[in-house]
Amino acid sequence: MDSMYIALDFATGEEALHFLKVNELKNVPVKVGMELFYKEGPAFITELQNQSHPIFLDLKLHDIPTTVYRTMKNIAALEVDMVNVHALGGVEMMQRAKEGLLAGSSNESPALLAVTMLTSMDEKVMKKDLNIKESLHKQVGHLATLAMQSGVDGVVCSAHEAELIKELCGPSFLTVTPGIRLANSDANDQVRTATPAEAKKKEADILVIGRSITNAKDPKEAYNTALKEWKNDIM
Ligand code: C5P
Repeated sequence: MDSMYIALDFATGEEALHFLKVNELKNVPVKVGMELFYKEGPAFITELQNQSHPIFLDLKLHDIPTTVYRTMKNIAALEVDMVNVHALGGVEMMQRAKEGLLAGSSNESPALLAVTMLTSMDEKVMKKDLNIKESLHKQVGHLATLAMQSGVDGVVCSAHEAELIKELCGPSFLTVTPGIRLANSDANDQVRTATPAEAKKKEADILVIGRSITNAKDPKEAYNTALKEWKNDIM
């Protein structure tokens, strides 16, 4: 598994490929989310694979267990590195997601992640909108534990929750952290943000970083800065 994925949040495949080409981001690991996948479909995944980009396919499935099983079986054929579901879909849904991936894979199946609480949501909004009474940390810990018990390989969480999750779920349970910002970037709609160096200290395994790179004046330089910070070469 690679350890830093660029979120390709572009409206079209053409824009995403252009971005990678002009910035000479050859072979870099990328995350494809629903915006691009719904526009371009599986052919775009193949195109990125032909250019040797490792892929995290971030579709955040959340549906009845049978539908998720059947969908994951189809997704497995794409042979990406990582895929995900919402942990709020419950134990049976997460178990069926894993079974679908195993049933659809001829080689090694993609790692299955569960989204705990979106990094765009803080405790106040979680309590108000979702009517969850627990603290955000407790809720994230609960969902991560459920995910682990369901056979999921790791979670998508804020860097600030990675340590807690490692404590609860053990060192080999993956923590994949979006909401990453370089020191001088806008938070945009993210709330629980961290720099790559902070994420490293807090035991994140894999970084997902989008607008800090894609909106930077010099995306290649921003990518190299994030990677250096993440690999602990500079602090
Ligand atoms: O631009 P930014 O770095 O905020 O991008 C973060 C990416 O990670 C977006 O593509 C977003 O959909 C994704 N993501 C997230 N929070 C999660 C799961 C995925 O921000 N819990």
